[in-house]
Amino acid sequence: MKKNVALFGLGRIGVMHAKNIVLNSKLKLKYVYDINQKIAKIYSKKLKCFNLKSPSKAFSDKSIDIIFISSTTSTHIPLITKSVKSKKIVFCEKPLDLNINKVIKCKKYIKKHKPKIQLGFNRRYDPGHYALKRSLLSGKIGKLEKIIITSRDPAPPSFKYLKSSGGIFRDMTIHDFDMVRFYLGNDEIKEIFATASNISSKKFNDIKDYELATCVLKSTTGVICTINNSRHYKYGYDQRIEVFGSKGCLISENKKKYNFFIDRYKTAYKLQLQDLVNLANKNKKPRASFIDGEKALLLANAAYKSLSSKKVIKIT
Ligand SMILES: NC(=O)c1ccc[n+]([C@@H]2O[C@H](COP(=O)([O-])OP(=O)(O)OC[C@H]3O[C@@H](n4cnc5c(N)ncnc54)[C@H](O)[C@@H]3O)[C@@H](O)[C@H]2O)c1
Repeated sequence: MKKNVALFGLGRIGVMHAKNIVLNSKLKLKYVYDINQKIAKIYSKKLKCFNLKSPSKAFSDKSIDIIFISSTTSTHIPLITKSVKSKKIVFCEKPLDLNINKVIKCKKYIKKHKPKIQLGFNRRYDPGHYALKRSLLSGKIGKLEKIIITSRDPAPPSFKYLKSSGGIFRDMTIHDFDMVRFYLGNDEIKEIFATASNISSKKFNDIKDYELATCVLKSTTGVICTINNSRHYKYGYDQRIEVFGSKGCLISENKKKYNFFIDRYKTAYKLQLQDLVNLANKNKKPRASFIDGEKALLLANAAYKSLSSKKVIKIT
């Protein structure tokens, strides 16, 4: 039987997720809710589902199995809390929140409900990036020594979005922090140094954000990780990862030119949704969880601490 889904937030990413849910044979998109009712009405018609005028029905309706959260970041923690209390399975977009205290408080509160939560770290599902993980596990390149990530957007998102995004480390680099943790497995990051600047667009100065950033991280076993970010790149969306080890190195390359993350990670978003189906139907642990969201946010916070102090920050 299909699992019923209520989706919150029909913005850039929410519409894409909603379309994928409709296409998935194991899921049924029953409700959508967006505070922008104009958008919600348009898409509920297009997607042949009900438009909720208030969110409460999604939680009280016993037929709803999954709450899918793709709304603005500040809504994530309250929606996760309500969903878990209502015994729903949860998918939530990254980041969990911009405030680590809220995340920790929520974690403590929902623990007793044994929540089933998948976090939207879609890059873990990219076939190229995941192939590196599989090769690492099979020992193909021996002992892991370095992780080198290049992650550049073709162009920055709107300044309206950027203003409330939490800044480059919490909004953009958070994906890369997560990928570093994904490849490291049980090995944890023990220190980080971050630097950032604005050269082409001084507009970032006005919102106290950055268009260029680099982070250098080191793990407990000594693996050195470099993350190289830019909010713009004339070439297009630039996503490359290299894992370097004692027996060689492996690279996940740009497959072709993309101008939007939704096109670049099209397959990853679909595989991510399949993992949600497996969580709902088989109770299979998803590839990215609430804890992964918390740990990536801790690294983003440490990056800001390093940036302001110009020092290497120890992760405890
Ligand atoms: N995993 C990824 O690749 C990826 C990419 C982009 C964005 N995101 C994340 O997804 C989230 C949404 O990003 P976006 O780019 O789609 O933003 P967006 O601004 O385009 O869309 C957000 C939508 O949420 C709606 N909304 C706001 N408050 C709401 C509420 N209380 N209930 C229901 N809807 C509400 C807004 O009206 C809007 O339509 C953010 O947390 C962002 O970090 C993830």
